[in-house]
Amino acid sequence: MSSSKTEPETNYQTLLQTHPDFIIDEKKGLCFGKVPLQSLTDHYGSPVWVINADILTSRFQKLSKAFLQNKMDISIHYAVKANDHLAILDLLAKEGAGVDIVSLGELKRALKVNINPRKICFSGVGKREEELKAAIQLEIGQINVESREELHLISKIAMDTGKKAAICLRINPDVDARTHHKITTGLAENKFGIAYEQALQVYKEASQLDNILPLGFDVHIGSQISSVEPYKKAFLKMAKLVKQARKEGLEVSVLDCGGGFGISYYDEKESDPYALANLMQGIFSSLNIRICIEPGRWLVGPAGILISKVVRRKNNGPEAPPFIILDAAMNDLLRPAMYDAWHGILPIQAEIYKRPLEKQNIDGPICESSDIFARQRLLPQLRENDEIAILDAGAYGHVMSSSYNARPQALQLMIKDKRLFVIKPRQTFESLWNNETIPNG
Ligand SMILES: Cc1ncc(COP(=O)(O)O)c(C=O)c1O
Repeated sequence: MSSSKTEPETNYQTLLQTHPDFIIDEKKGLCFGKVPLQSLTDHYGSPVWVINADILTSRFQKLSKAFLQNKMDISIHYAVKANDHLAILDLLAKEGAGVDIVSLGELKRALKVNINPRKICFSGVGKREEELKAAIQLEIGQINVESREELHLISKIAMDTGKKAAICLRINPDVDARTHHKITTGLAENKFGIAYEQALQVYKEASQLDNILPLGFDVHIGSQISSVEPYKKAFLKMAKLVKQARKEGLEVSVLDCGGGFGISYYDEKESDPYALANLMQGIFSSLNIRICIEPGRWLVGPAGILISKVVRRKNNGPEAPPFIILDAAMNDLLRPAMYDAWHGILPIQAEIYKRPLEKQNIDGPICESSDIFARQRLLPQLRENDEIAILDAGAYGHVMSSSYNARPQALQLMIKDKRLFVIKPRQTFESLWNNETIPNG
């Protein structure tokens, strides 16, 4: 759904049905995982992020249960890029997750919460030498190699440091994930991975390098994938590749199936972990191979919201829908501006739900026409100082925040065991310029 044009008509009642973690209590207003959101901004200001740790934990447990039920040898590597807050990494690590990282910064975050380096896998198309060196010195579980060039650089670094680097080759299967073009990664035209046709040759090369331990292959075809069909196509190709490699006498012990599992932003069906586990089981069980997955959005997306206050209700004529200007903006949640992403919006105060429904444009205050949260969204009439929750903002939300327009980044809260914790205070104005210097003369 595009938020830059008029949206297809949606109904917040449907949103409540597809998002059972939200209920509207007649007195307490909107509750998230049974916690009322009504008075939060009085204490913490606005906008404010809320991550519900209980929801996150139960999603992780549901995912692992689906795969364990199939008796699969599975490693779950949480994709740190989706939300890299230490509290989230710590929580998932304690549940038994490993991590998928894409930078030295993410590696340091993982180490900060004591994730065992063996449970770290390192993805990314442009890993720098210093990043690879750090990973190799730590002997992390697996580096997902994106090119022949990178393979040889890893081999050289491993030799120089006297280590052996465990690697998987990331393969580009040229499969359309049928998702937004900006989050599609498995087509030949995308920069990611080694072309399927070259995979075997590069794997042979890897097997001949002294300081390389080739574990197998990796594939990640995109994000917010809602059907199993693209996965099926990609996985069948990967299974074929594993068989071909083994036929050539090469050892293959790991198949990393990436992430990309879709969630329900409105009424789409979210990826069913049991369906995915069944699919993988069906295709890979005869291969006797360890399967890795790298989910990000599916785990943390529905566990997070962004709360914002209405700063202004602005009418540009009796016929036009009113503009509801929030105090949150694209610098907080970039997804609508960047991907035309649709996010559910629910008013917080109980009394708002008694007002008439009206089509309203929901915008941020930034001087950019892309600073939009919704177009002609049918909601109870919103007025100044009303509060709303933007749903499914736990993944690719705060991590993509900036302080554009000199707007301090919003405070982050975590709900854990129904209690509230500040996990990051609001950025101070001073910190916006603390490290800046003015050259003399
Ligand atoms: C290599 C890799 N693995 C995993 C992920 C996580 O994807 P998602 O959050 O859609 O599960 C990404 C994100 O695009 C990725 O690039």
